[in-house]
Amino acid sequence: MGISIAETFRDGVVFITGSTGFLGTILLEKLLRSCDVKTIAVLVRSKKGLAASQRAVDIYQRAVFDRLRFEKPDFVTKIKIIDGNLEEPSLGFSTDDRDWLINNVNFVFHCAATIRFNESIQMATKINIQGTENLLELATIMNNLKGFVHVSTAYSHCPRSEIKEQFYPVSISAKELKNLIKRDKNIQNFGVDWPNTYTFTKALTENDILTYENQLPISIFRPSIIGCTQSEPEPGWLDNINGASGIITPIIVGILRTIQLSRDKKTDIVPVDYTANALISVMWSTVNRYKYSDEKNKEPKIYNYVSSADSPIHWDKIINYTFEAYHQAPPLETMWYIFCIFSDSRWLVYILRFLLHRIPGAFIDFSFIIRGKNPKMLKMYKKLESMTDLLKVFTTSEWKFDNGNTLELWSLLSQEDRKTFRFGFEEFDWKSYIKYTVYGIRKHILHEDLSNLPKALSKNQKLFWLHVLCIFLIVYIVFQVCWMFVCRNS
Ligand SMILES: NC(=O)c1ccc[n+]([C@@H]2O[C@H](COP(=O)([O-])OP(=O)(O)OC[C@H]3O[C@@H](n4cnc5c(N)ncnc54)[C@H](OP(=O)(O)O)[C@@H]3O)[C@@H](O)[C@H]2O)c1
Repeated sequence: MGISIAETFRDGVVFITGSTGFLGTILLEKLLRSCDVKTIAVLVRSKKGLAASQRAVDIYQRAVFDRLRFEKPDFVTKIKIIDGNLEEPSLGFSTDDRDWLINNVNFVFHCAATIRFNESIQMATKINIQGTENLLELATIMNNLKGFVHVSTAYSHCPRSEIKEQFYPVSISAKELKNLIKRDKNIQNFGVDWPNTYTFTKALTENDILTYENQLPISIFRPSIIGCTQSEPEPGWLDNINGASGIITPIIVGILRTIQLSRDKKTDIVPVDYTANALISVMWSTVNRYKYSDEKNKEPKIYNYVSSADSPIHWDKIINYTFEAYHQAPPLETMWYIFCIFSDSRWLVYILRFLLHRIPGAFIDFSFIIRGKNPKMLKMYKKLESMTDLLKVFTTSEWKFDNGNTLELWSLLSQEDRKTFRFGFEEFDWKSYIKYTVYGIRKHILHEDLSNLPKALSKNQKLFWLHVLCIFLIVYIVFQVCWMFVCRNS
């Protein structure tokens, strides 16, 4: 299909929203490293008292850009900061920036979103729906636009068990939802079938995009749960504890001891570097489709980017691989020996939470109080449990995804592009990937160097014996209580 991916982007001007986030960071790094773009404009908002430009300077000094710094030392000169905020009308752009975008941008990657599952419907609508609408409006007057890719999620229509690469009707439109919110600022009862405001607003935004079908060279990209990097710029890079790492991290630090999760269900994780490669390839395909064929009157193409269709993995395997990697390199900061009971029974998990989280948490808090310190364990457990509750729908259900468009895209890539922008899942090695995840969490989340490994292994050995001792003690106490009860009644 026409020219190569790198050629498509050569001397082009790219605009990325969400470049400070997990996916956006890897997308930006990869485009700068593997494509000779002219400029990448990035939308950055000021946050926590830091101006957009200052935030960007701090971000580009991070280790994730080390490989790029080595290969392309002047990469920062190609980045143009656009100060803005999706929550604001006109996206908060200055007139100069707006004019510059209209006159220069060739490719738009719209990654920015609020991905908080418990975001208020008002805020999720403002950022995910209204923010996207404002950006689409701007894109329609961009003079040199060749392609626009909107990043959605494979779970936008998660109330369905089978998700194809197509638009699905939703009982309410984005416009109707916005009117409802305008009328009733405290509205709570929305998209009852959806488990959270995030997936619901993503579903409505997808349908909003249909309205632009005749005006924009646009595609929708739907990744499933994005995990750490598989290989680029280094294996195991991640910067958050969302998704699978939100479960693996508290398990390997010994605080999560029970979770509602069905070991026999398939999960769907895609590495963030593969996801960025697939996203770049979707842009390449979008540009070519609109350039070389008459796609103008067709619906925007949707790409489900999932692993389960080609390389399925069940939670059971993920857990086993996590435990294996933990035993090779337990974190030094581990609070307790790795131990977690997985069950799909809500009630069993509630009881186990009381026994395995609350009771030990209360003891530790009590010891903090008598040492004159602030208690924090019960508070931490409250947060952890509400986080696992939000993830419950994704740890206890599975979906059947169709990924025909993505497979077709992979088949269209040249051998060279497949090497540079790898995103196919044939022969994907999950065991190594989960090992990268555990080691990545150790390095990037817990900030532990492998040089502490001997100390960590020795501590883990002690924690193991302490754990065994506790189990014996608990069994002994339970036995004694039962015995007393039997003796009293006989
Ligand atoms: N992570 C996943 O597992 C996953 C799975 C499927 C799809 N996706 C999609 O992939 C995209 C990127 O997700 P991610 O994991 O990279 O999320 P992320 O790490 O939370 O990043 C979100 C990005 O959006 C920006 N953003 C949020 N609100 C904004 C606002 N009001 N104005 C301007 N920028 C704003 C954030 O900027 P700040 O740095 O200023 O906060 C950040 O750059 C999203 O569209 C998400 O729906 C993610």
